[in-house]
Amino acid sequence: MLWVARLSGLCSLAMVMVVLSPSLQSFPPAEAIRSSHYLRIPAGGGGYNHHLAAASGDAESLVFRRAPRFHNAAECEPPSANGTSVCDPSLVHIAITLDEEYLRGSIAAVHSVLTHARCPENVFFHLLLSEPGLESVVRSAFPGLRFKAYYFDPDRVRALISTSVRQALEQPLNYARNYLGDILERCVNRVIYLDSDLVVVDDIGKLWRTRLGSRAVGAPEYCHANFTKYFTDRFWSDHRLAATFAGRRPCYFNTGVMVLDLVRWRRAGYTRRIERWMEVQKSGAAPSGAGRIYELGSLPPFLLVFAGHVAPIEHRWNQHGLGGDNARGSCRDLHPGHVSLLHWSGSGKPWVRLDSKRPCPLDHLWAPYDLYGPADA
Ligand SMILES: *[C@@H]1O[C@H](CO)[C@@H](O)[C@H](O)[C@H]1NC(C)=O
Ligand SMILES: *[C@@H]1O[C@H](CO)[C@@H](O)[C@H](O)[C@H]1NC(C)=O
Repeated sequence: MLWVARLSGLCSLAMVMVVLSPSLQSFPPAEAIRSSHYLRIPAGGGGYNHHLAAASGDAESLVFRRAPRFHNAAECEPPSANGTSVCDPSLVHIAITLDEEYLRGSIAAVHSVLTHARCPENVFFHLLLSEPGLESVVRSAFPGLRFKAYYFDPDRVRALISTSVRQALEQPLNYARNYLGDILERCVNRVIYLDSDLVVVDDIGKLWRTRLGSRAVGAPEYCHANFTKYFTDRFWSDHRLAATFAGRRPCYFNTGVMVLDLVRWRRAGYTRRIERWMEVQKSGAAPSGAGRIYELGSLPPFLLVFAGHVAPIEHRWNQHGLGGDNARGSCRDLHPGHVSLLHWSGSGKPWVRLDSKRPCPLDHLWAPYDLYGPADA
């Protein structure tokens, strides 16, 4: 409970700062940008890859500590006797990506979900990986965790990604969220997608039970954000393209936290619709093309298909932008209101700033979930 007190303390601090500084009240939402700064190992280490490669066989070289086992509260529906069936209807399904670069963040995210869940034994993780073998790190960090690992073939999207888009946003794994309807078992009807640079500080069961009405995607919406800027002049000046949003009230939403109704998703073929927009972008960016329709990577196709058709979720479930604009020295604050999830979207990541001994105040709320590093002697 100590950190809860700390969090509420920080919240009031944040509130005061918001009042004092109008410029803090809103900031441009940023997509998670992958940087490769943090792959440094504590002094004496050989290198991250080396340690990971050894992780499956050699317990001594594990770079992540083991989390305690998490147990259900008394009122939880007991998971089925089978224990491991992914089709058990009492499960809460979460999808998250796992790659070497963001592994530390993904592990902290999983840790945070389990820490605050009322029914942690009913949470099932779907891990999407671009490098086979990373799941062994998760297995050893979380004894008894229910999960399934899926290899996401980068070639699935490589041909669709326009090369002119900023390199940093073009990690194929960023696009894995587009394919959850295909990748996950058919019996999985709903899934929560989480980015790897966030921590959940509330019972994930509450987010799971969010009503989506007739929508396939639920996410916090930001209708005050300038929606125009997510697309190029070419997009807005081409009437056929701009007509995409006719009759809709499109608002920005962050694709780092989404509740997806996979039954509706599969039925409507949303994966293919997203891919079609990626094709439009790709052909526009070609030398003979008419021009790109957006600058960012995986976000705009989602906006094209879903903006204005999203089930709005409370903003507390995605306090985003905490990463700021650059890796160091641009600390962001919480948006006003409650906090159930803290999201370091933007280019600064809490583990980088903590390691470099230049953390932002809110980075200290991430630290308790970090399992990176050897066990205390
Ligand atoms: C165990 O799982 C299998 C396959 O998932 C299912 O057919 C069977 O009915 C389950 N048994 C129980 C006791 O839940
Ligand atoms: C929104 O963004 C566009 C493109 O960047 C810009 O031209 C426009 O002035 C902005 N509108 C507002 C209200 O800030």
